Amino acid sequence: MEESVRIFSPATVANVACGFDILGLALDNPGDEVIVRRKAGSGIVIRNETPYTNIPTDPDANTIGVAAKAFLEHLQSDAGFEITITHKIKPGSGIGSSAASAVAGVFGINLLLGAPRTKKELVQFAMHGEKAACGSAHADNVAPALLGGFVLVRSYQPLDVIRLAFPDTLYIAIIHPQIELKTADARKVLRTSIQLKDAVKQWGNIAGLVAGLARNDYPLIARSLEDVIIEPVRSLLIPGYEKVKQAAIEADALGCSISGSGPSVFALCETEAIAHRAAIAMEEKFSDLEIDSIKYISKINTEGVRALE
Ligand code: HSE
Repeated sequence: MEESVRIFSPATVANVACGFDILGLALDNPGDEVIVRRKAGSGIVIRNETPYTNIPTDPDANTIGVAAKAFLEHLQSDAGFEITITHKIKPGSGIGSSAASAVAGVFGINLLLGAPRTKKELVQFAMHGEKAACGSAHADNVAPALLGGFVLVRSYQPLDVIRLAFPDTLYIAIIHPQIELKTADARKVLRTSIQLKDAVKQWGNIAGLVAGLARNDYPLIARSLEDVIIEPVRSLLIPGYEKVKQAAIEADALGCSISGSGPSVFALCETEAIAHRAAIAMEEKFSDLEIDSIKYISKINTEGVRALE
């Protein structure tokens, strides 16, 4: 049996405009690198090799440790592991940093134990990491990070995770303004009740997006990339948001919205050239406000978390 495995765990865009807590997609770039090693004795030891972050290495305070412990407890295993994290996805960026960690941990342990569980079965354990990170066990980052592709969380109780069909030409432009927004804080600002007319509009958009993706119907995808419930509230936390979004649409993106809980903003695009144009246009708008940003262009990652050679 292998003693150690090096893992690539992808960044993800959750919500994808209209699908708060139920839609997500995986990216090829960026992603975190994590090494999971068997160690003598039981328990989890976390090492952080990221130069710029203060990630807690106490396994009970770290998303990776919490998810790993939940998985080992489920397996009733007393095996021990050392987990070394190199974050390329900045914590607090809105592109699934905590999810990538939690997913890498459970995936690596599963592999080293001879893969007793499928990737789909690992979703529930990775969700424990999300709960530890922000107080909510949402699956719209961890499910695409594990399975790859465009994923729908149809139900939480019982958990029902569905991989969606999508056009393989799609590109995503991500712009990450260098401000930190914690998911826990971005969830606190949300209203707990909504108007029926808004719910009807959102249901139409979710169904329209899923249908548009399945039929390669770009105008339908574009019409459906609209969030009338979450974005109006959260966009107030992102300086210049409306201008950034408008710039992406003017650059011919199909749609643009907040990535997960922000502050990153994503634009879904029909081609790589449009994604480059949209990223530059969005970057300029943040730059007008003297906010530095990092941009990523990526296809949708179809494989999800994987072991590297
Ligand atoms: N669906 C979650 C939220 C994703 O919007 O709070 C967090 O990355």
